[in-house]
Amino acid sequence: MRFFSRTRLLFSAMAITGFVMLAGALLVGFGLDEEGRLRPSSNVILAQGIESSTDECVVCHTDHTPGIVNQYAESDHFRNNVSCSSCHLVEGDYPGAVQHPDADFSVLPLSSPAQCEECHREQVQQFNLSRHALPAYVAYAGTDALSEEHSELYLSIPEHGNVDSRNRNSLHALEGPDVTYFACETCHDVGKPAPDGSIGNCTDCHLRHEFSLEQARKPETCNACHIGPDHPQWEIYSESGHGIAYLTGGDDWNWEAEPGNLTTVDFPAPTCATCHMSGFGLSATTHDVGDRLTWYLASAISTRRPSWQENKVRMQNVCLACHSNNFVDNFYERGDALVDSINAWVRLSDYMMQQLQENELVTAAPFDEPIDFTYFNLWHHWGRTAKFGAWMQGADYVQWHGAYEILHDLAELREMVDERLEEAGLEPLEMPEGFPSIDSTKSFLETMSSE
Ligand code: HEC
Ligand code: HEC
Ligand code: HEC
Ligand code: HEC
Ligand code: HEC
Ligand code: HEC
Ligand code: HEC
Ligand code: HEC
Repeated sequence: MRFFSRTRLLFSAMAITGFVMLAGALLVGFGLDEEGRLRPSSNVILAQGIESSTDECVVCHTDHTPGIVNQYAESDHFRNNVSCSSCHLVEGDYPGAVQHPDADFSVLPLSSPAQCEECHREQVQQFNLSRHALPAYVAYAGTDALSEEHSELYLSIPEHGNVDSRNRNSLHALEGPDVTYFACETCHDVGKPAPDGSIGNCTDCHLRHEFSLEQARKPETCNACHIGPDHPQWEIYSESGHGIAYLTGGDDWNWEAEPGNLTTVDFPAPTCATCHMSGFGLSATTHDVGDRLTWYLASAISTRRPSWQENKVRMQNVCLACHSNNFVDNFYERGDALVDSINAWVRLSDYMMQQLQENELVTAAPFDEPIDFTYFNLWHHWGRTAKFGAWMQGADYVQWHGAYEILHDLAELREMVDERLEEAGLEPLEMPEGFPSIDSTKSFLETMSSE
């Protein structure tokens, strides 16, 4: 008997608690604002801690941009008292500032790296010395677009130049701003100067307003730009042992681990960020993505970078957390040899085109005849892809989207060139005996250069 009355008591208690909770949820979920409007802020209940914020920006923006407030609530910034004002509140005469609606203060709607720099000086400085900064912007805008101060900064980046652009800038002009706004600019504005003179867009990798480490570290972040026929790093990674480890087991990795000294316990296999940016093994965290590279792989003909030996040590320090010395040395020797072979085929294509250029049998205008495209694809798509594929373990990209396509384009190019030479009454091309085999290409180029 006593047992039953207790149960009944328990049920009534549960019913009352349930009712109170429901009423509470309704009250919080539909608050009344000062003008007596019922406002649905149920969105914000989800984000822990933010509902009790008294920050006036947060309180009002809960109504107007609840999405932003919710993202911000998830961030380490919110947990560390970095406020909306820290990144947005500026003087009225600040470059890029706008008067805030219905208020007597000004804000910078597109908060710039100058704001981040107040607290993250090191990251901003490293970023500024990388090819993600001004070089990325110059790649389509040219150096004429730079102010004097930016010109100086650009020239102070050790690897600012050297990637020869071979007509890509002319694609920008041919297509025009209505198209390229959605194309070149989307990727290359990662390094565009802001009105206040600070450089680039940190939110290309740190999605606002969470600024989450997990998101920045995942390779999908890089695939916004490192994708497609001319730089398929994402596709290559996805078919590599490293990418397979990520795609099949990455859910369990320690994505939010404290930056600086990540270990193989946090990441049993590397992502793009691990190899190129994270503090891992003996290498320190860097926002200069060129800091660990030895070649200019994106160039038509790859050459060594300044201080490539130090860069190599930094990259190998990452590999060595998981692979042996011999394994890594052997891999680098093989990689260097592949670059040498791809360089040779691209040189051969240059030699073929030169015969037409010298005899004025091609127009000077870029991309106005099919032969321009064949010549360009050969290095810009297939040559690069083969090199990236080798260095990041994507066999299909080395072979079928790389070397095979190069051979195909060399054969086409030869036929196109010979046709034009013949039409002009000239001798056909002098070619390597075993064309297009790599051995005969290399010895042919050697003889040519010694002549
Ligand atoms: C009383 C309400 C209110 C307060 C307080 C408030 N905002 Fe706003 N804010 C708005 C509204 C409304 C908009 C316009 C939203 C829209 O266009 O959809 C806005 C727009 C903005 C914009 C974008 C401006 C643009 O031109 O794109 C920023 C940035 C901003 N607020 C930041 C802040 C910051 C920082 C604070 C605190 C210092 C703050 N707001 C305080 C209501 C408020
Ligand atoms: C850590 C710095 C930081 C903090 C904190 C921050 N923002 Fe932002 N916010 C940014 C950056 C960076 C951008 C995007 C700039 C760009 O795209 O170039 C941005 C964009 C915006 C925009 C305009 C773009 C859009 O999507 O409409 C608004 C409005 C805005 N923030 C409001 C807020 C509000 C409200 C808060 C506080 C709840 C806040 N921000 C907190 C850095 C910050
Ligand atoms: C007022 C100072 C301040 C400003 C301005 C600021 N941050 Fe932060 N940021 C911090 C603090 C504090 C942390 C937390 C550091 C920690 O956890 O060790 C942080 C953490 C971060 C993190 C790591 C997040 C994590 O989960 O640990 C990123 C990424 C970041 N900030 C990016 C930015 C960017 C991009 C900007 C500019 C748009 C910016 N911050 C502006 C103070 C600031
Ligand atoms: C999908 C993003 C994306 C688009 C769109 C894009 N690029 Fe790039 N571009 C890149 C990436 C990523 C690299 C770096 C390749 C590497 O190092 O592997 C690059 C490299 C370059 C380079 C060689 C590096 C240098 O600084 O000389 C030039 C030049 C260039 N792009 C110009 C352009 C032009 C011009 C357009 C438009 C006609 C364009 N890009 C469109 C992402 C893009
Ligand atoms: C190419 C993508 C990329 C860009 C662009 C980028 N970051 Fe990062 N950032 C990362 C990655 C990846 C990490 C995580 C590194 C790691 O694994 O520890 C990171 C980490 C950070 C951290 C936390 C690191 C620490 O050591 O505490 C801060 C702060 C930060 N970034 C600020 C910035 C600022 C400011 C900018 C703009 C100048 C910026 N980032 C631009 C990719 C990027
Ligand atoms: C918004 C587009 C964008 C995103 C996102 C992006 N990159 Fe890049 N990246 C570029 C462009 C553009 C270049 C070529 C810049 C140039 O040389 O002109 C580049 C170049 C590079 C280079 C070669 C640098 C050099 O010195 O030649 C590396 C390595 C790189 N990115 C790694 C990364 C990694 C890792 C991530 C993700 C954490 C990432 N990128 C995210 C656009 C992007
Ligand atoms: C296992 C480590 C590793 C991983 C994972 C990795 N890379 Fe690389 N990456 C390398 C190495 C090694 C090179 C060639 C370095 C050299 O030149 O010595 C390279 C080259 C590059 C380059 C060419 C730069 C140039 O010279 O043109 C870019 C861009 C790049 N990686 C981006 C990425 C992106 C984006 C991802 C993820 C989708 C990624 N990497 C994943 C190790 C890695
Ligand atoms: C955090 C650990 C880790 C790091 C760092 C790392 N790797 Fe790996 N690597 C792996 C794993 C795991 C595999 C997949 C092994 C398998 O296929 O059985 C792998 C596979 C490989 C393979 C293919 C091997 C095969 O037998 O198929 C190569 C090549 C390779 N890594 C090179 C590198 C290079 C070069 C670096 C540095 C730029 C590097 N790795 C950094 C863990 C790592």
